[in-house]
Amino acid sequence: MTDNSNEQITIDGPAASGKSTLARCVALKVGAYCVNTGDMYRSLTWLSQKNRLDPVDDRAAIVRLLDQHDMQLKANPEDCSISVMLDGQPVRDVIRASDVTAGVSHIAVIPEVREWMVKKQQESKHLGLIVMEGRDIGTVVFPEAKYKFFVTASPRERALRRLRQDGETPDNANLESVTNDIIKRDKIDSERKAGRLKPAPDAYIMDTTSMTIDEAVNTLVSNYLEILSMDS
Ligand code: DC
Repeated sequence: MTDNSNEQITIDGPAASGKSTLARCVALKVGAYCVNTGDMYRSLTWLSQKNRLDPVDDRAAIVRLLDQHDMQLKANPEDCSISVMLDGQPVRDVIRASDVTAGVSHIAVIPEVREWMVKKQQESKHLGLIVMEGRDIGTVVFPEAKYKFFVTASPRERALRRLRQDGETPDNANLESVTNDIIKRDKIDSERKAGRLKPAPDAYIMDTTSMTIDEAVNTLVSNYLEILSMDS
């Protein structure tokens, strides 16, 4: 088997830690495709909500949706992005709705769902150099990857960042309610049995609470280049 462990840059971290922006900027800088795995869990959440399925009572029906529908990762070479397509349609806008954000961690705890998602994520190896972000990328999806990062920020800073993102919080949300939602979601993400949120033992930990996005991008890229130069 060919060793392509130097083709994945993994970025894990809690909700609203700035991973997605960071991953997008890093991917553009190093010429990699950027895969946002949260979008995959969000897509299934949107689909199950559309079908009025309950994450606890209708687990089996939710898992069946994965066979009944076609979820694909579409590569967009013009901006190095990857779009999640459901039955041939992009779902980018609908999956950021606040109902989906509130429901997704209940779908992401389902072990069969995680197993399916991990396999699909591993298939993106064929794209060559990728930056993949999520919760379990360095620990479960690509544990052999050479470049692993774990990005954090304080719950308050993350709530501020989420409030700045249009449409991701309910209309009546405030700093306190969003901070509490984030703490709740961290708890579910870090206590579930499969794919729990935690840094890989060899991940580089970045606390971005007081970093600008440029500082975070530069820190990550320099670290990546340093490991790359040690390998060659
Ligand atoms: O990164 P995000 O906030 O869009 O992720 C949405 C949800 O999906 C979040 O509750 C955690 C879950 N998730 C996961 O369990 N594993 C991943 N690899 C990515 C996301």
